[in-house]
Amino acid sequence: MNQMTPPPKIEFIPASAPFSEAQRSWLNGFFAGLLSTDGPAPLSAEQGGAVVQGPSGDGDDEAPWHDQTLPIAERMKLAEGRPLRRRMMAAMAQQDCGQCGYNCNDYSDAIASRAEARLNLCVPGGKETARMLKALNEELEKAPAASAGVPVTPAVSAAPAIAADTPVAATFVSRRLLNKPGSEKETWHIDFDLAGCGLDYVVGDSFGIFARNELGLVDQIIAMLGALHTTEVRGKTLREVLADDVSLAPAPDSLFELLSFITGGALREKARALAQGEDPDGDAASLDVMAALQKFSGVRPHPEAFVEALEPLQPRLYSISSSHNATPGKLSLTVDCVRYVVGKRRRLGLASTFLAERIKPGDQVKVYVQKAHGFALPQDPKTPIIMIGPGTGIAPFRAFLLDRKATGAPGKNWLFFGHQRSSYDFFYSDELNALKTSGLLTRMSLAWSRDGDKKFYVQDRMREVGRELWTWLAEGAHLYICGDAKRMAKDVERALIDIVTQFGARTTDEAVSFVGELKKKGRFQQDVY
Ligand SMILES: Cc1cc2nc3c(=O)[nH]c(=O)nc-3n(C[C@H](O)[C@H](O)[C@H](O)COP(=O)(O)OP(=O)(O)OC[C@H]3O[C@@H](n4cnc5c(N)ncnc54)[C@H](O)[C@@H]3O)c2cc1C
Ligand SMILES: NC(=O)c1ccc[n+]([C@@H]2O[C@H](COP(=O)([O-])OP(=O)(O)OC[C@H]3O[C@@H](n4cnc5c(N)ncnc54)[C@H](OP(=O)(O)O)[C@@H]3O)[C@@H](O)[C@H]2O)c1
Repeated sequence: MNQMTPPPKIEFIPASAPFSEAQRSWLNGFFAGLLSTDGPAPLSAEQGGAVVQGPSGDGDDEAPWHDQTLPIAERMKLAEGRPLRRRMMAAMAQQDCGQCGYNCNDYSDAIASRAEARLNLCVPGGKETARMLKALNEELEKAPAASAGVPVTPAVSAAPAIAADTPVAATFVSRRLLNKPGSEKETWHIDFDLAGCGLDYVVGDSFGIFARNELGLVDQIIAMLGALHTTEVRGKTLREVLADDVSLAPAPDSLFELLSFITGGALREKARALAQGEDPDGDAASLDVMAALQKFSGVRPHPEAFVEALEPLQPRLYSISSSHNATPGKLSLTVDCVRYVVGKRRRLGLASTFLAERIKPGDQVKVYVQKAHGFALPQDPKTPIIMIGPGTGIAPFRAFLLDRKATGAPGKNWLFFGHQRSSYDFFYSDELNALKTSGLLTRMSLAWSRDGDKKFYVQDRMREVGRELWTWLAEGAHLYICGDAKRMAKDVERALIDIVTQFGARTTDEAVSFVGELKKKGRFQQDVY
C-alpha cells in the first residue's frame, strides 16, 4: 500500500566539512562506492520512521506521531485536524510490531476503509488504543465516506490474510532456563518441533503463540461468578471458554458497562466512570478481570453476559532465535517471563508463563509464523552486520549468527549484547564464545548494567567503540536493533546519531538525516516491542 520513495543519495561528507567542493564530491563518491545498498527491498518511508505515503495520495504524508515513546495524548495532538485514517494511525502504539497482523499505518487504513472491523488488535496500545479507536470509529460511522481519507470497501472482502487467523499445532519440545541462580530475571530458551505442521520460517520472522489462561485464575473467576465449571457458554463449558477464548488481563470497558447495567447507586456510578476511562479510585490501571469482579464483589453477572463483555484472547509474538538452515524443522524462542504482584495477588504474563511453566513436553500448541517486514539478513552474504540486542533482544541475532554459520556467509558479524549481570545473565555464553573463537562472530561487545556502581548499557559500549562502528558503517554494514521499544531502542538510536556526528564529521541534523537514510535503504532495521 505504501509507495516507495526513490533511493535517496547519501551525502557522506557534509557541506560543513573542511574540503573543497571537488574533494567533497570525490569523497562522497568514494564512500558511496564502499557502502553497499543491497539488502531487502527498500522499506516504505513509514518503516523508515519519518514519512508515510498514504494510499489515497492525499498529500498528508508526514507522520510526526510515529514514535513509540510518545504518550497517546501527545500523538493525538500531533494528528489533530488530519483525516480520520491518520488519527486512527496516531492512536496505534507506533511499534509496527506486527501483532495485529499489519503495521500501524495499514491497520488504521484497513479500519478506515472498513476492511477490518476489529478495533482491539493493537496489543501494545492496550485499552488506550482500543478506546480511542472506538471513538474514532464512531466518528467514521457518522461521517461521509470520503472524510476518512481512504476508499470505503465493504467489510470482510478486502481484509488481508492474517497469519494469526490460521494457526496450526506445533509440538512443544523442551525449555531451559538461561539465567543462572541468583539472577533477578527468568528467561527461557524454548524449543518447538515443526514436523508435520506445515510451517516454515526464515531468520528475522516471529512466532505467534496462542496461550491458555492459568486454570487457577479461571477457577477463581468461576467461583466469583457463583457459576459451575460446566455451565454451557458458546457451545463449550464456561471453564474451556475462560481458559482458551477470552482475555482475563486488563478488564475491558465493556465489562464495567455490564457491571453498571446490573447494579445501582454509587457502585453503578463507579462502574460507569470506569467504563468511560475515568479512574475514580486511582486503581484503574491495575484492574484485571479478577480484580474488577473483586471490586464489585456483590455484583454477579450471568456467565453468558460476562463472557460476551470480555475481549478475545490475543496471541503473543516472539522473535525466532533459531535458523531453519542450521536445524531444519526445529524452532526456538528466548522468552522473558512476566510475573509481578499487585496488592496481595501474583499476576502472571499470559504467554510467557504458559511457555515457562504450563505446557509439558509433547503438548500441542496453536501457533503461526509472522513474516518479518523489513527485518532480515542482507541479501549479499558478504555484507557486514552490526546487531544490538540487550536482554531478549539477542533472540533474532542468535538466529542470524546460526544462519550465517550454516550457510557459510563470509560477511563480518558484530554483536552488542547486554543484560543485568555478567555472572547470571549472559545468555548463550558458551555458544557465543565458541562462535567468537571460530571467527564467525567477528566482534562481541558486552554491557552489564548492574555489575558496577553505575548503569552501563549497550549504547555506552557503542560510544566507546564509535570510531570502529563508523568504519563498519562506511564499509556498508547493516545495523539492527532488537528488544525494548520504549526506552532502549530510542537511546541506542541516539547513540548512533552521536557516533555519526562525531566520527562522520556531521552536524546533529545531518547525522539524523544520515540515520534516516540508512533506515530508508533498509540498512538500519528494528524488531522492537
Ligand atoms: C515482534 C515481537 C517480538 C517479540 N519477541 C519477544 C522475545 O523474543 N522474547 C520475549 O520475551 N518477548 C518478546 N516479545 C514480547 C511478547 O510478545 C510479550 O509481549 C511478552 O512475553 C509478555 O507477554 P505475556 O503474555 O507473558 O504477558 P501479558 O499477559 O501480555 O502481560 C504483560 C503486561 O503486564 C503488565 N506488566 C508487566 N510487568 C508489570 C509490572 N511489573 N507491574 C505492573 N504491570 C506489569 C504490563 O501491562 C504488560 O504489558 C515480542 C513482541 C513482539 C511484538
Ligand atoms: N514494563 C517495564 O517497566 C519493563 C521493564 C523492563 C523490560 N520490559 C519489557 O520486558 C521484556 C523483556 O525484557 P528483557 O528481558 O529483554 O530485558 P530488559 O529488562 O529490557 O533488560 C535488558 C538489559 O537492558 C538494560 N536496559 C534498561 N534500560 C535500558 C535503556 N534505556 N537502554 C539500554 N539498555 C537498557 C537493562 O538494564 P537495567 O534493567 O539494569 O536498567 C538490562 O541490562 C521486553 O518486552 C521489555 O520491553 C518492561
